[in-house]
Amino acid sequence: MAICLRSRTRSSAPEPVDPGRRAVLKSTLALGVAATLSPLQTSRANTEPMLRTFGLTPGLAETRLLPDSAYPPTRVWAYNGSVPAREIRVRQGERIRVELLNRLPQPTTVHWHGLRLPNAMDGVPDLTQAPVAPGERFVYEYDARDAGTYWFHPHFNGIEQVARGLHGVLVVEEPNPPAVDRELTWIVDDWRLEDNAQIADDFTSRHDRSHGGRLGNLPTVNGRVSNRLALRPGERLRLRLVNVANARTFPLVLSGLPHWVIAVDGQPLPEPVDAREGLLQLAPGNRMDLIVDAQPEAGVQPALMMEPARGDPYTLVDISVDGEPLAKGLAGTQVMSLPANVQTPFVAADSVRHVIDLGGGAMDPKLRRGEVDVETVRARVGEGRYWTVSMSPAARAPGPEIEVARGTHVMMELHNDTMFPHPMHLHGHHFQLLDINGQAQQAGIWRDTILVNPGDRTRIGFVAEAPGDWLMHCHILAHHATGMRWTVRVV
Ligand code: C2O
Ligand code: CU
Repeated sequence: MAICLRSRTRSSAPEPVDPGRRAVLKSTLALGVAATLSPLQTSRANTEPMLRTFGLTPGLAETRLLPDSAYPPTRVWAYNGSVPAREIRVRQGERIRVELLNRLPQPTTVHWHGLRLPNAMDGVPDLTQAPVAPGERFVYEYDARDAGTYWFHPHFNGIEQVARGLHGVLVVEEPNPPAVDRELTWIVDDWRLEDNAQIADDFTSRHDRSHGGRLGNLPTVNGRVSNRLALRPGERLRLRLVNVANARTFPLVLSGLPHWVIAVDGQPLPEPVDAREGLLQLAPGNRMDLIVDAQPEAGVQPALMMEPARGDPYTLVDISVDGEPLAKGLAGTQVMSLPANVQTPFVAADSVRHVIDLGGGAMDPKLRRGEVDVETVRARVGEGRYWTVSMSPAARAPGPEIEVARGTHVMMELHNDTMFPHPMHLHGHHFQLLDINGQAQQAGIWRDTILVNPGDRTRIGFVAEAPGDWLMHCHILAHHATGMRWTVRVV
């Protein structure tokens, strides 16, 4: 299926992991079950929804990305001391309250990526709230309307704060989740480490800003390099994949085991998609829910691999299937689709349309075509704007901004006139992917982040749902920081 699967040979190519480091870093460690953050409090008042209160304290910590004792622990920034953060889990319909206490040396906020919530809870500094200064608190509180796999991260100086380890997964469970034998969350990330295993602090690198962002040299799953998963024959897993990387699109392949995609960006697919031969392309911000059956194909080593179009495949998780078959294991039983979240379908005929031109960056095509001159580009870059956004019909002062009334059907044509792919993320809404270069895409699929490849015209549609200023931006955080962002104001 075109939306989440691409043929394994023609993926857009992220840079391969530095092969020099790979040999050094190769060692194995059992893959920990993602720990869950226990609520501080759970309470219900009369007919109100169940309120679940969590404490989130970002601060300085250490972690072992590299199990090898030849390396020291890595100094990180972490929520409650753990990288990734402990998973926050609630039931659909419950109310989430998160008490943030900032123990970082700089301001922060928390953005709840993919969730539909009131604008004031969206966590965008100077747009939806004031930055939370060191030592200060902020309370986020909202209803978990939509079941699915979401995540959270700072939206203040994300290029540094996310890269230093601040990210976590938020799971909103369905009232009747599909029957599986085990559920796992695999958070894929990409770290840029120095030889002493410390995070490289070149967060304002001009090269990263003008090229593909801050790509790392060490991919991890759940904050560990080289992982192992032991399965019993006949087991059925629900596997939630989340890409929290700063810039890297992961071309993932789950080899050797039958598996189906049941949700993308948290939203259920109309039908499970058999993904056995496909590439699971996860751009920064993307999530994918899979059903995986421990029924190994003969002669294929089960594993989660990165398979870049250039360079060698790289194993993220070694999977073994052995031991006694699981009594009453669910592998091989029917794979059911998840119940859909309530969405207002987009109607193209009723829509307002915006063509949004994404420009700038290294090897700027507009410069090559003589549509801008070098002085203009130099001046812009001098002000820290490496990327441009221009839109028709009307670009509004002071910045690029779209203003629509609540309930408006909005079509955006995202034209990537740059040499780099951009994972474009809209806050507070789910959108439908309509077509790419005129080619219609499967209906009934909802996303919050879509990778737009160089040269592509990708059209998305959504219904402006909640009042407020909703950010749209590239989720390559170095691009977000240097111009590739705008606001959709819903009034
Ligand atoms: Cu996950 Cu505005 O971002
Ligand atoms: Cu970008």
